[in-house]
Order: sequence, then C-alpha cells, then structure tokens
Amino acid sequence: MKKYIMAMDEGTTSARCVIYDKQGNTISSAQREFPQYFPKEGWVEHDATEIWATQISVAQEAMLKHNLNYRDIVALGITNQRETTVVWDKVTGKPIYNAIVWQCRRTSDYAEALKKEGYEEMIRRKTGLIIDAYFSGTKIKWILDHVDGARERAERGELLFGTIESWLIWKMTGGEVHVTDYSNAARTMLFNIHTLDWDDEILALLDIPKCMLPKPVECSGHYGETISELFGGPIPITGSAGDQQAALFGETCFEVGEAKCTYGTGSFLLLNTGDRPVFSDSGLLTTIAWGLDGKVSYALEGSAFVCGAAIQWLRDEMKFMSESPESERMALKAGTGEGVYMVPAFTGIGAPYWEPDARGAIFGITRGTDRNQIVRATLESLAYQNEDLLSAMAEDLGQRIVVLKVDGGACRNNFLMQFQADVSDTEIVRCKSIESTSLGAAYLAGLAVGYYDSTDDIIENKEVERVFRPEMDEAKRAALLKGWHKAVKAAIWLAE
Ligand code: G3P
Repeated sequence: MKKYIMAMDEGTTSARCVIYDKQGNTISSAQREFPQYFPKEGWVEHDATEIWATQISVAQEAMLKHNLNYRDIVALGITNQRETTVVWDKVTGKPIYNAIVWQCRRTSDYAEALKKEGYEEMIRRKTGLIIDAYFSGTKIKWILDHVDGARERAERGELLFGTIESWLIWKMTGGEVHVTDYSNAARTMLFNIHTLDWDDEILALLDIPKCMLPKPVECSGHYGETISELFGGPIPITGSAGDQQAALFGETCFEVGEAKCTYGTGSFLLLNTGDRPVFSDSGLLTTIAWGLDGKVSYALEGSAFVCGAAIQWLRDEMKFMSESPESERMALKAGTGEGVYMVPAFTGIGAPYWEPDARGAIFGITRGTDRNQIVRATLESLAYQNEDLLSAMAEDLGQRIVVLKVDGGACRNNFLMQFQADVSDTEIVRCKSIESTSLGAAYLAGLAVGYYDSTDDIIENKEVERVFRPEMDEAKRAALLKGWHKAVKAAIWLAE
C-alpha cells in the first residue's frame, strides 16, 4: 500500500495541509483563511483556537478529498508562521489572550528601551537577533504584564508558552507534548543559539518564568502522536520548522552558501552558513536553519516585511487590476518606466535599515506617469529590497551569492524574476514546485521515519522549471540602484 507524508503549513493568513508522495508530488491539499484582528493601530492578533480549528479542518479535508485514512500517512510535519506568541492554561488548554502576531508592533517602545539600556550586543551575541518587537520575547512579557494574574500563574507552572508549532503539537497530542523545534526557538529572542537552550540572563531581564517554556528539540524526530479523535487513529508527528527555514530545506539548500528567497506576503531571504553562525555587521539576523541528526545548521536571514502584500495593495486598494498575475503584463506595457520609484515601507523597513517608523512613498512621477508605471515600479521595488539583502549578505560573507533559488506566490511573475536577476546580477532558479515551505516540513518528517534515507534522496525530487540569467549592463544596474537608495533615504527622512 502506498504511503504518504502530511505537511501542515500554518501561515499568517491561512492554514494549509498538503499530502505528498515520496517524489514530492501533491496528492491532496486544502487551505482556509482565518480571521485577523487589529484591535489598535499597529496591533495584530489571531485567535489561537481558531488557528487550531482551521488547521485541523483543512487536514481532515485533505485526507477526505483523496479518501485517505491515518494508516496511509506515515508521518506528519509542521511548519508555521514564526514568532507569533500563544500563552495558554495548562489544564483547560485555553489561551489566556489572543495570539500576538509577529507583525504586531505593540512592544516596540519596550524593545527600543532595551536597546537604549545597552542590551543589544548581549542579545545579539546569544540569540543572533536584533532587539525588536518582531520576536516572541517581548510579546510574552506583554501578556504576562497585562493579563490579570498571568505572571503569578506562570510562576506557579499553570501557564504554557508556545509559538504556533508548539501550540499545535501540544493540542494534537492531547496536551502530552510541549516542545518547540530549534528553528522556531531561535525566533523568540530568549534562545541561546550556541548552547541550544533557553538563556537565563535574558529570561531574568524580561521576567519570564522558565517553567512556561517548551522543551527545545531537533527539527526531525519523533515528538509524539496525534490523538485518535483527530484522524481516526494516531499519526506520528516527526517534523517541525519555522516556515522560512522549512522553505530553505524544501529548496534543498543543504550546502553552505546555498540561498533561497520566498516571495510571500513579505520576502524572506535565507542563506545556509553550515555549522557556523555568521554574525552580520549589515543588519541581518543570525538564526538556526535546522537541527538534524545531532547537528545544527545556521542561516543568515534578511527579510522585507512587504512583498506580495504590495501587489495585493495595487489590486485591492488601488484597484489597478483584478488579479495579481495581471501585474506582469502591466509592467511589461510600462515601457522603460525609469525614474519612478516606489518604496513599499507600509510597516516600516526591515533589514538592512531597520526603520520601524518609515512609511511607503512613490517618487519621480510626472504628468505622463500611468498605472502601468506604478505597477512596474512596485514590482521593481520588491527586487530592489531583495538586492539590498543580497548585498548586505555579500558584505558579511566577503562574496556575492551567485545563484538564488526562489519560491512563494509572487515568484511566478516572470517580469519580477528577470528584474531580480538583472538588478542583483544573480542567477535566479525557479523550480517546478514553488511550495517549498510545506515540502520542507514533509521532508523533515519523512527523514525521521526513514521514508527518506538521507538528504540525497530528497535532492533527486528537485526539478528546475526556469532559470533567469542577468542581462543588464553594469552601468544601468548601478544607476537604477542609486535611484532606489535615494528613494529609500527620502522615505525614511519623510517619516522622521
Ligand atoms: O517571520 C514571519 C514569517 O514566518 C511569516 O511567514 O509566510 O506566514 O507570512 P508567512
């Protein structure tokens, strides 16, 4: 009987489940969005109970669609939106507050205060991260400070914390297993990426009781089994990784120097640096890629908060198109479009600038500027942002990345991919399957149960669909980048 692997991909706006065969072909899948809550300007929340219900319902739906039962699934891998913070009651299993989402800026003043007090270097050295409201640490502290009696209850061992994979594993095992994998733990700003354990000094600084934290585990291994009520019988849970690290794995970036960029809501560029954490002088993050077979691989990460979200903005707010893929045709119709720059800093600018207060702007418009040019400038801005990340990486490494693997929805846009190749003078490789995130989770789960013998087995599944080669001459590239950097500087200045 043929057996499959199930991947749960719990993202920021929707939960997905994909069931794969050994070759990485999708056998069945289901996806559903869940509500987003914006209680105040800059605040973003999810209801962790809704996430749980949505994730389980899509998993059941995916199984049903292909008439599968739990015996057909050899293992389950989980991947998730990272940093999003859930605190729940150990006995009732109920969250004590909505999940505070990675995008939420409510703790940015506290993060700034920590920087001013001089903790930046200590935190960076231990966690690889820049102090920012993005990560879970300050979000946990906020919940403990603001929910009545929460800190005392946490100290008494009555409350648990988890990022989304941890919450889902706890729920799926009926409250038996409270773990987090290294790649997710590395995004909390509480985890020492060298010792692979929670850091007592940082926990004391943020006043977070250690007893509420999950046990850190490798990204592939037997964590537990799903309770029978969910799928009719137990399914082993054997893989877990944050979505960006899972995508790096799914893109088979197993070797040092291999990099991927996911063009999702935001854009996330990760480079495998092997067993050596590389610390950035250019505003990038050092993170754990995965822990596998007793070894840890590290990654250098740069992210732009807005990527596909800018195309959605053109579609939904500007009403320039009815479907996102139309942006490619419009950009090609825009002629050269040169001189128009869009800076999509809707929620500030991330790496390498880290200007949380910057806001979006459009520069260089004339009486003749039309919507095609704005669309083109927006697509170009996504490539420029990535180029900033690539050149920051080049500075840290002393050499440029020459091949970039791409995935995520917006990488279907051929105009964007060619412009990325041109403006970054880098070969862009797009594979047949651009769903690397869930594939990565499936591979990690499959390795733990011997479905795959080794990563060599996985590499065989990789099929390149198209390679975009740089065609732009150096002078033009330099001139375009100069204009972009002026525009970014102006956008930052406007927000001051
Ligand atoms: O760090 C945030 C990231 O993990 C969110 O990814 O794909 O859910 O937007 P996504």
